[in-house]
Amino acid sequence: MISKKMVQALNKQLNNELYSAYLYLSMSSYANYVGLKGAANWFMVQYQEEMFHFMKFYNYVNSQGDHVVLAQLDAPPSEFGSLLSMYQQTLNHEQFITASINDWMELAIQEKDHATQIFLQWFVTEQIEEESNDNDIIAKLKLVGDTGAGLFMIDNELALRLFTPPPATAP
Ligand code: FEO
Repeated sequence: MISKKMVQALNKQLNNELYSAYLYLSMSSYANYVGLKGAANWFMVQYQEEMFHFMKFYNYVNSQGDHVVLAQLDAPPSEFGSLLSMYQQTLNHEQFITASINDWMELAIQEKDHATQIFLQWFVTEQIEEESNDNDIIAKLKLVGDTGAGLFMIDNELALRLFTPPPATAP
């Protein structure tokens, strides 16, 4: 039995995930515009991941006998500066998402809602990976510089990212 308060929190996160998708879609287009085709691919894959996250929340709320409440989304920025700046903005955003997931996990613990704790556990692990990926790319960009040959090399690496939907897990 899930509480209304918990459903409200999950709906908030579901909208956060949708905003994340919106943000990365904008970043992908911007990267393409400035000639960073690899980064455009990376952010498009990130968009697909966020839509997967969104759908996980969507399906979970439905599975708990409640319903999704979609909210109006803020417009994301449309210009992001250098590639290093793009990844710093990405890391900042993911740190915000991690903090929200932690808040909802706290609530699930307080409410002794074990089902939602198990559900959110997947996102706790996912956020470790998300932040780690961003930190790795930021470290590389700082190492080789985000201009000239270094930028070209990293952009080629970013071109290799593929979207692989994680194996289906309950719920
Ligand atoms: Fe869905 Fe990037 O967190």
